[in-house]
Parts: sequence; structure tokens; C-alpha cells
Amino acid sequence: MSVILLKSVCKSYLSGDGRLHVLKQTDLDIKKADFAVVAGPSGSGKSTLLNLIGGLDRPDSGLIEIDGVELSRLTDSKQAAFRNQKIGFVFQSFHLIPVLTAAENVAWPLYIKGVNRKQRMLRARELLSNFGLATHIDKQPDKLSGGQCQRVAIARALACEPQIVLADEPTANLDHKTSVEIMDLLCSLNKESDVTFLFSTHDQMVASYAKRHLYLEDGKLIENAVDAHIDEGVGCV
Ligand SMILES: Nc1ncnc2c1ncn2[C@@H]1O[C@H](COP(=O)(O)OP(=O)(O)OP(=O)(O)O)[C@@H](O)[C@H]1O
Ligand SMILES: [Mg+2]
Repeated sequence: MSVILLKSVCKSYLSGDGRLHVLKQTDLDIKKADFAVVAGPSGSGKSTLLNLIGGLDRPDSGLIEIDGVELSRLTDSKQAAFRNQKIGFVFQSFHLIPVLTAAENVAWPLYIKGVNRKQRMLRARELLSNFGLATHIDKQPDKLSGGQCQRVAIARALACEPQIVLADEPTANLDHKTSVEIMDLLCSLNKESDVTFLFSTHDQMVASYAKRHLYLEDGKLIENAVDAHIDEGVGCV
């Protein structure tokens, strides 16, 4: 069954000297428990694509269906609720809430969902421990390194046990060893819980874990175009 389905999706932005066409009739079909990565040059539209799939922005035209639900049929607030229920999103620039601690940031989506404080803080602590941050749970983001913020952002994306995880360059700020540890964790989630992953990445190591390799070029997604560039990986496929 298709969990993420895009048909002829177009997205453009107004730029100084006219309209910049980023996605040009883009198609995509991701099945349940797929683990797909999207590579492509900087500015090719990887973040744009993930933002549209995550319902953070709307396309100019075309169809986006998530788990059989057409996003354009949902109001902004229904889309936000749908995202909270189904999707964990790891932003390229984290978007952690600066006044909250690491644990409170991870617990935030559970608060939105209506989970009581004791339960959500328990879950947040458990997730942060899994990501090697047990001693950092009470720190605010400005007291954490970039790599630690990245791990908090990944933990937050998993807080509500989403069916789909969209991650925009999730290892961009991590050293190789931490990246491998996190990818191993995510990979076991993909295998054991059938969570569907769609990541954008420039990281060959991350790509080596994926079952599907997509390349975004000139507004279109090409399958298997990056296979030739992937290092021997430690992947789980
Ligand atoms: N809100 C916006 N308004 C205008 N232009 C935008 C906007 N968001 C993105 N763009 C432009 O759209 C293009 C695609 O941007 P996007 O961030 O999706 O690329 P990317 O593939 O994620 O790049 P990177 O690898 O550097 O993260 C870029 O040229 C960017 O400048
Ligand atoms: Mg990007």
C-alpha cells in the first residue's frame, strides 16, 4: 500500500527576477516500511519536497496523499493534527523551542496530543537516553551542541510513535560514530515496527542504510540514480 503518493506535484517560489520552478510534475510512490533517501544538489528542492509531504507547505498543483488521505482536502489545522498523529518530522535546522529543555522539546508533540505530563516526560527521557543524551535532558537547546540538538530533534520526531518519519539531512551535524549509532536505532525501528522513512541526505553512510535511492534533479525524482555513488555501507538492508 502507498503511504506517500505524489502525482504531478508542482511547486514554485517567487524570486527576485521571476518564478523559480522547484518541483516540476514530480511523482513519488513510497510503500509502507520503505526506507528511501533523496539526494540531489543544494537548492534542488529536497527540503521543499519534504515540507510538502509533511503538510508544512502546499503545492501549486498536483496530488499528495498520505496514508490514503489527500492533503489538499484538509484545512491547515486538520493538516497539523494529521501530521501530529502520523508523521515525525526532523527539520534541517531542528526548530527546537529555545525556552524548553531537551526533554520538554521531545515531550512537546505528546503535549499537543493530550498525553499527561508524567507519561510524556517518561517517554522523552527514554528516547533521549536511547540517543545518548541521558545527562542532557534538563538543558535548553542553547546549552547543547549542534549534534546534540540534532539528536533531540530526532527523538522529538519519534515521540508519538509515527508511522512515517520525514527527516531533512538528519545526520548533517553528527560525527560518523554517532551517525552510525542513530542510523542503527532508526533502522531497527524500520524493521521491527514497519515505520516508513523518507530522508534527504548528502551522507553516503545514511544512503547505505536505505532500500530505495532517489535523486532530485531538475524538479523530478529519479530512482536508483545515486546507487553508483554509495560507499560500502554498514546498512541494514
Ligand atoms: N520560501 C521560499 N521562497 C523563495 N524561494 C525558496 C523558498 N524556499 C526555498 N526556495 C528556493 O527553492 C530552491 C529549493 O530549495 P530547497 O531548500 O528545497 O533546496 P534543498 O535541495 O533542500 O537544498 P539544501 O541541500 O541546500 O538544503 C532553492 O533555490 C531555494 O532558494
Ligand atoms: Mg534542504
